[in-house]
Amino acid sequence: MANSLRMILPHATCDKPGSPHAPAKEADIPIARYWDRIAGERTDRFRIPVWRAYCDELQRSWLRQATAPRTFRRTLKTDLFEEAQGDGLATFLGESSEQLLGIDISPRVVAQALHRHPGIAAEVADVRRLPHASGSLDRIVSISTLDHFRHPSELQEALTELVRVLAPGGHLFLTLDNPWNPIVAMRGLLPAFAFGRSALLPYHVGPTLAAVDLQGALEARGLVIQQTHHQMHLPRILGLHLCRVLDPSWSVSRRWLRCLLAFERLGRWPTAPFTGHFVAIHARRPA
Ligand SMILES: C[S@@+](CC[C@H](N)C(=O)[O-])C[C@H]1O[C@@H](n2cnc3c(N)ncnc32)[C@H](O)[C@@H]1O
Repeated sequence: MANSLRMILPHATCDKPGSPHAPAKEADIPIARYWDRIAGERTDRFRIPVWRAYCDELQRSWLRQATAPRTFRRTLKTDLFEEAQGDGLATFLGESSEQLLGIDISPRVVAQALHRHPGIAAEVADVRRLPHASGSLDRIVSISTLDHFRHPSELQEALTELVRVLAPGGHLFLTLDNPWNPIVAMRGLLPAFAFGRSALLPYHVGPTLAAVDLQGALEARGLVIQQTHHQMHLPRILGLHLCRVLDPSWSVSRRWLRCLLAFERLGRWPTAPFTGHFVAIHARRPA
């Protein structure tokens, strides 16, 4: 796999002078610099190994179940946040792809991810303007990358871009915050300045789509929905808090992970659209 760090920053993301650490209103900071700051100043907040292991295992088991064991030609991961802090999905996706590509808008996240995973062909790019040729990727994995825009039209723009680069017959795995979850709904009412002030709201989150609307948006772009479900039924606040408290003393034991993952059984209940923190969709472009 190639090892590359290319800069493909859209002008709007890198055109402001000044230190990345200069205090500024969240809304005024160009996106790349904002995420650089999050990745640089606050990484300790995200270094909760049990929580990360839980999140990663949630995604891995979904991806494992969704397709029969096979090797994809080119897989794209649309942000490298998890890979900047740990294994993330790098090993799993790398083992099932001839080439693993990754982008992130933050140069710092890309550099950190490359440092840990030199096998990823990682580059700095905006998910709304991908550097890949149309129809060139047979798997795209987008875990909560599109949750951070300021305007709903940007989310739609990103969906159009993901569909553009997806190959005929290719698979898209996408998660978004679930607006029907009461915590997500309440969070959506908060003003921008509320984000970044606590471990529970560590960074900006923006508009999202309910499962039915996300399905409609993908179908309108020609994709065929394979499966939709709600994910992460462990109440996030409780889970994060527990993991934070226990983390210093616990190594990531399988038993502890199993306890956290057991909450996914709530996904079979009729209440799943309200308890799941994320909407997760597997869609395909017709061959
Ligand atoms: C909070 S993290 C995403 C969640 C992460 N996948 C997880 O599950 O923990 C947001 C990541 O998306 C990246 N990002 C934000 N906006 C982006 C954009 N427009 N294009 C590409 N990456 C973006 C950020 O740099 C950051 O690494």
